[in-house]
Amino acid sequence: MKQSTRFSLSFRFENNRLKQSRGNLPTEPKKTEKKQTVTQDSGFNSEAKEKLQELTAELDNMIGLAKVKELVKEITAYVEICRRRQRYQLKSESLVLHMIFMGNPGTGKTTVARILGKMLAELKVLPKGHLLEVERADLVGEFIGHTAQKCREQIKKAMGGILFIDEAYSLARGGEKDFGKEAIDTLVKAMEDHKNEIIIILAGYEKEMEKFLRTNPGLRSRFPIHLHFPDYTTDELLEIAALMVRERQYKLSLGATEFLRTYLQEQLETKRINFSNARLVRNLLEKAIRRQALRLVQQQVYGRNDLMLLLREDFEEIQAEETNFAENVLLLPNR
Ligand SMILES: Nc1ncnc2c1ncn2[C@@H]1O[C@H](COP(=O)(O)OP(=O)(O)OP(=O)(O)O)[C@@H](O)[C@H]1O
Ligand SMILES: [Mg+2]
Repeated sequence: MKQSTRFSLSFRFENNRLKQSRGNLPTEPKKTEKKQTVTQDSGFNSEAKEKLQELTAELDNMIGLAKVKELVKEITAYVEICRRRQRYQLKSESLVLHMIFMGNPGTGKTTVARILGKMLAELKVLPKGHLLEVERADLVGEFIGHTAQKCREQIKKAMGGILFIDEAYSLARGGEKDFGKEAIDTLVKAMEDHKNEIIIILAGYEKEMEKFLRTNPGLRSRFPIHLHFPDYTTDELLEIAALMVRERQYKLSLGATEFLRTYLQEQLETKRINFSNARLVRNLLEKAIRRQALRLVQQQVYGRNDLMLLLREDFEEIQAEETNFAENVLLLPNR
């Protein structure tokens, strides 16, 4: 980590490709130039390389999110090249990797952050790479001095990894007098003091985050990387359902797939306020799995295929209210 303090320039992605250098471009490598393979010159051993490949596959396995995946790969490639350049005593820039993830609930923000944290640990940018997910209540206190203390506790726990602040815009909710402002100031200070030991990701709905950044002009430049997580289409949600079902060793009957398609299409068209994309799909499946269990126990006779198959009737009774209930109460610990 120490050597990365020699970098000096931050970089801005905002879902664009890495800006190309416009300096002199004697880019063709000389034939005589001695090249070394990754493992010879980089300090990344083959185990780290393998782990990185696994993590990339995990990311690729996620449905959709083409731009997010591309940007994550750009970030990790850039980090890797910066570190290699250091080994050749070439100028390399300061890695400012604090980020903003914008998107609606269930669009994959936490999942991507978790994978990215592990990638950055393999690249030796983060000592540990774990992810600590917090929200306003974890950071903002109720009396003077309480906020700083709460923030310090969370920062300590996140040290070596990623501090992921969900609904970050709520920190600015109460205006000047609110302790949320103190939380922001404490976080900014921690970013300076521990710049090589922690990455902060602010997450939240697109509009609110934009507003939040406008109310705190200093923040934008401290968080140079912006990732946008779009809502999934019906087809993508169905693919996500298929993936989740496969991972759990279940199968969807044709009728169940049809039901899901119609249900998700309806939900997307009406876009209920708390429409929660992939999380909605996960909740539906988990509920259907419980209903299937009840059905099988009641019918008493069943074989291997029955144990795997989810039928239309397992989904049919699920009402939107129940889904929302499951979202808020039953599934929170797995987020
Ligand atoms: N593209 C995807 N492919 C497969 N599964 C996905 C995808 N996106 C999300 N999921 C799954 O959906 C669930 C919710 O995702 P996640 O928690 O990452 O969303 P989030 O954007 O952090 O939501 P929130 O804003 O509500 O915290 C997880 O189980 C995750 O694995
Ligand atoms: Mg999340």
